[in-house]
Amino acid sequence: EKITIIGLPMDLGQNRRGVDMGPSAIRYAEVVERLDSLGFDVEDSGDIMIGRPAQLDTSETKLNNLKEVTIGSRLLAEKVDAILGKNSFPLVLGGDHSIAIGTLAGASKHYENLGVIWFDAHGDLNTDETTPSGNIHGMSLAVSLGLGNDELVNIHGYSPKIKPENVVIIGARSLDEGERKLITAKEIKVFSMHEIDRRGMAAVIEETIAFFNEKTDGVHLSVDMDALDPIDAPGVGTPVLGGITYRESHLAMEMLSESGIVTSAEFVEVNPILDDKNKTATVAVALMGSLFGEKLV
Ligand code: ARG
Ligand code: MN
Ligand code: MN
Ligand code: MN
Repeated sequence: EKITIIGLPMDLGQNRRGVDMGPSAIRYAEVVERLDSLGFDVEDSGDIMIGRPAQLDTSETKLNNLKEVTIGSRLLAEKVDAILGKNSFPLVLGGDHSIAIGTLAGASKHYENLGVIWFDAHGDLNTDETTPSGNIHGMSLAVSLGLGNDELVNIHGYSPKIKPENVVIIGARSLDEGERKLITAKEIKVFSMHEIDRRGMAAVIEETIAFFNEKTDGVHLSVDMDALDPIDAPGVGTPVLGGITYRESHLAMEMLSESGIVTSAEFVEVNPILDDKNKTATVAVALMGSLFGEKLV
């Protein structure tokens, strides 16, 4: 089985610099070696390079750095599309969560009904109208559903990329007013921290797998490292207390691995500047190990 790694070192979907070093930090934590040792044919195709303005535009526009995020998303969409075209598994390294716009644009072309697992403290369901920050990393799931800025919504030439009934959010504990309304209106499935505490991660993942089984022909796993508790993943730009533990997150990956439903994945929001000795990248790579079948016995 082939895995193709692609990095998008982009931090312009939010306003804390440093996530652009995420791909380097994850490679430094030996992602290639880890997956290689599991018997996969791993190709690291490097990073997508996008230009960076000498001066960031801090004027009061609605969407921060729209131009750069659009360019990065377009390039990533083409790359992910091509990787799936060669029957390889795309493993995307971020970058902030705005890059999911590009990943989903490239991946969804290959499926009638692509499911999405959004592993995140946040919903990333704001639109250009509801965003409290103007940061595109808080809009990527909405954009993929066809909601928000026209340019972003139409990346890779079609919209929507995914359907609300094929989305499962896991780990949510920080949702804005507009996002709550959208979740209710579109009936999006959310396993908040409350459900995870109450029912346990095993039940949540079992239900997620059953939920997809009937209707999806592929599943994209989008892991925002801030889904985890800041104790286990301190190197993120928007940490929220009360998150998923190290073991719960591993159990989730192990169960997804056993199910075999995941067809593409991305790991985002690793910020080495805010991290504690590359802990967050190390945890991300350990999660990738579990996602690709690593087990003690
Ligand atoms: N909801 C907030 C916003 O729209 C925070 C989003 C955080 N997103 C993330 N991918 N970390 O700005
Ligand atoms: Mn090998
Ligand atoms: Mn988040
Ligand atoms: Mn996110």
